[in-house]
Amino acid sequence: MGKILITGAMGLIGSEFREALTPEQAYFAGRSDCDVTSLENILSYTKGKDISVIINCAASRDAEYLQDNPDSGRLINIEAPRNLALAANQIGAALIHISSDYVFDGGRNTPYRETDAVHALSVYGEQKIAGENAVLATAETGIVLRTAWVFSSYGKDFVKTIGRLARERKEIDVIYDQAGSPTYAADFVAAVLQMLPRIKTGSREIYHLTNEGVCSWYDMAVQIVDLFGCRCRVNPIETKDFKQRAPRPKYSVLSKDKIKKDFGIELRHYSAGLRDCVRKIGSLAHAS
Ligand SMILES: NC(=O)c1ccc[n+]([C@@H]2O[C@H](COP(=O)([O-])OP(=O)(O)OC[C@H]3O[C@@H](n4cnc5c(N)ncnc54)[C@H](OP(=O)(O)O)[C@@H]3O)[C@@H](O)[C@H]2O)c1
Repeated sequence: MGKILITGAMGLIGSEFREALTPEQAYFAGRSDCDVTSLENILSYTKGKDISVIINCAASRDAEYLQDNPDSGRLINIEAPRNLALAANQIGAALIHISSDYVFDGGRNTPYRETDAVHALSVYGEQKIAGENAVLATAETGIVLRTAWVFSSYGKDFVKTIGRLARERKEIDVIYDQAGSPTYAADFVAAVLQMLPRIKTGSREIYHLTNEGVCSWYDMAVQIVDLFGCRCRVNPIETKDFKQRAPRPKYSVLSKDKIKKDFGIELRHYSAGLRDCVRKIGSLAHAS
């Protein structure tokens, strides 16, 4: 097996791959090393390297910004996955592309399966659908991994935002009428690495991969405040009372049955990941 190429390696999930893999196992390409919106750039970066898998962590995922500026995301969220699929075909590599629960409209109350029809509510969700389609239509071996509500000790996420607000304020308002399955990026990455040796050449599949457990943003915020040892009061509010330009799915729990059956992958409850994540953020803050 050749090496793994991680694109978007300086982002939240990319950083977890950098922690989990050594330079002997993987190439880590940030935007300045390999701008994935250009096929030429990707081919020049991959030239002479022995790469058997590309894991695409590059994206524009600011749903609020994209809602008002859709053009800014088209290249990175739609053209880049297609470019990576073309490049993967040329070098004989498999492509793993990360997608999102925002491909669904959230209009149901039982977990979404990979076979369920997609219907995005936001520009970001529409672009993620188009990116998935580009991979599945182009890659000779292409896996789309949909995940959701990702948190990490790296990057910008809900855990650090709530941790900061909880230190700054006496009370905060958090939405309680959206339900999802939070995902610890470190658990996600470990599962992807477990999958890699078992991906069959020629397979083109979608898989859902999140931690176990279901909660609202409010429930998660209460846990985070508690784990950080803050006294801040968390008030449950409805989505309609929180100003957001990009509509979110009200319910975006993803069924993991397919990935469990095909790869034997089981992720722990998100609360255990949340504990580890907060502990790690605390120890990093201590060290700096
Ligand atoms: N975080 C979540 O909650 C979540 C949930 C579901 C799905 N996902 C999906 O997971 C994937 C990774 O997300 P993430 O949270 O790690 O996002 P992230 O932290 O925003 O990282 C994305 C990375 O992509 C890089 N990038 C942007 N344009 C690029 C280009 N033209 N060429 C190369 N790299 C480029 C960014 O670099 P710059 O910093 O230079 O812009 C950034 O480092 C995305 O596909 C996202 O849709 C994330």
